Amino acid sequence: MNTSWYQDALSASLETSKWEHLPVVIFEQPKIAAARVAREIADLVRNREADGLKVVLGLATGSTPIFVYQELARLHREEGLSFRNVITFNLDEYFPISPDHAQSYHRFMRMHFFDHIDIPAAQIHIPDGALARENVPAACERYEKMIAEAGGIDLQILGIGRTGHIGFNEPGSSRRSLTRLIHLDRLTRIDAIKDFQSEELVPRTAITMGVKTILQARRVVIMAFGEHKAAIVARAVEGEVSSEIPATFLQDHEDCLVVLDRAAASGLTRIQTPWLVGPLEESGLAWTDSMLRRGVNWLAQQTGKAILKLTDEDYNSHSLGELLSQHGNAYEINLRMFRQVQNTITGWPGGKPAGKDNAPVSQPRPLRSASAATYPKRILIFSPHPGDDVHSMGGTLLRLAEHKHEVHIAYQVSGSGVVKDEVLQRYLDFQQHVTGAKAEWNAANASSLKAAICRAEARAAARVCGVDPDDLHFLDLPFYEKMGENYRQVSGEDIAITAKLLAQVQPHQIYAAGDLADPHGTHRICLDILTQALKQSRKEPWFAHCEAWLYRGAWAPWPIHEVDMAVPLSPAETARKQRAIFQHESSKHQGPLFGGDSGEPDNVPLDGARATSRLFDALGMPDYEAIETFHRWELA
Ligand code: F6R
Repeated sequence: MNTSWYQDALSASLETSKWEHLPVVIFEQPKIAAARVAREIADLVRNREADGLKVVLGLATGSTPIFVYQELARLHREEGLSFRNVITFNLDEYFPISPDHAQSYHRFMRMHFFDHIDIPAAQIHIPDGALARENVPAACERYEKMIAEAGGIDLQILGIGRTGHIGFNEPGSSRRSLTRLIHLDRLTRIDAIKDFQSEELVPRTAITMGVKTILQARRVVIMAFGEHKAAIVARAVEGEVSSEIPATFLQDHEDCLVVLDRAAASGLTRIQTPWLVGPLEESGLAWTDSMLRRGVNWLAQQTGKAILKLTDEDYNSHSLGELLSQHGNAYEINLRMFRQVQNTITGWPGGKPAGKDNAPVSQPRPLRSASAATYPKRILIFSPHPGDDVHSMGGTLLRLAEHKHEVHIAYQVSGSGVVKDEVLQRYLDFQQHVTGAKAEWNAANASSLKAAICRAEARAAARVCGVDPDDLHFLDLPFYEKMGENYRQVSGEDIAITAKLLAQVQPHQIYAAGDLADPHGTHRICLDILTQALKQSRKEPWFAHCEAWLYRGAWAPWPIHEVDMAVPLSPAETARKQRAIFQHESSKHQGPLFGGDSGEPDNVPLDGARATSRLFDALGMPDYEAIETFHRWELA
């Protein structure tokens, strides 16, 4: 079935075959990648139908294949693609779970795919999570039989879990495993908190096709999108075959393709340290300034040396000799790179005020917009959930306020989803105690009450940072509120609300969360909405003077080579940032929603900024208590 894009992928990966044990194609955006996978499926379905044959598809759930299903549904609606000749087998289902439960994969498949196409119900197969436990083994055997009787799976699509699972074959699964009941790994359950609201509600077991069942498919396409998958993708593609990472078993499959977006591919050697794969030009790359910084920072970390101490010998013995031949000797390169990193550091993220008698002062090097010298500035910080602002850039935020800029903070979603029922109950008990009136909550008012808690906490945190609570904007973007019925569909309303705020504030500086995690995750959707709102604002007079910075979740700070502005914090500022973070009590231990693991200790955001500071120190920069980092966001 080798379609031409598959051929491209094969030849691309031959150059890197020393590292990559599976053919890989990388797309700029998940949507484009998904459209290519959808096209392959559509071609297969049409070709088989033309020959009067059925086609058997193996399907996955989770956020990864959603765009594929959306595109296939579009092809059905707009181009008449029919699924009458399609038989489907889903990989897995939670156990126990009823098919109508909001998180059941039966419901997921109806909502995202089956309700939008013409597949006959009798041709759909999904493991049954509602069986009595004693009936599960026989049902699993029957599932295998049904796949065999249908003629085997022609094309299996897969996602990959952060444990390296395919289907729900968690680490330790055998290559010979068949459909069965398994225990979910803790990390998999943590990743599912975003769907089930709390860890206790995530089922402990699931029914899954086995590794052998998957490997028997005639063709396998495994997709991964978002940087939270980068590490496991690298291990699955470049690591040894082992049951520790079940996805590595795919290396033994004869017709398997890995489809990635840039973020998920970012851990591959050819992207991370391309000089190890071969001369850069051969991979269509060049020693740009950013690549130089990547190489030199990597070399400093590898050798444990400060930048200025790296020698010609270090460059040569770490596959960076090419750099010396193109850019001079180690001393020259070191000095250039040292200055670049040094020039990212500023304690004046909003710029400096004019001197005595309005004398112009030289502005911090990272600032370069037309409004660099405007002082004070109007600053607009976009925080996806209440709390992301202080967790990720609390020190910078309090500096901006201290420097008397007009700081506005926009909370893009209400954050109600992270507040547990028990926290809400505590607030209502308090209210009842104070007012004497019985306060109750129910399904209808819970989310607005929880949103009110998040608002109160955001106000408290803003006060700690010296930001006027009147300059907080709670956007309550509708995509988040409607999440349940209409899985995170962005609408014009989300964009209009955001554009209206931009027009109102007319910012000189914008800060936004720039993590490229799950494309269906709140952070990435919020950034997409802001991107579109900014596009609409292009012609506004303020736009030409506006400078924008991306911050990252404290759990995944910018790698040094991507840092364009580094704001150092003193011990006192770090302590104040901690006080601001502590105001967001109800979202404590909700790490995954902020980009990290649940149950993280409270000081993770502070440790992130401290770790960045240690990295700067190791490169030979000044030794600060903590550093918050930003990447320039080119708006033009
Ligand atoms: C789903 C499945 C799982 C997911 C994996 C990735 O049917 O079998 O292996 O593909 O957990 O999940 P997402 O796509 O949500 O990151």
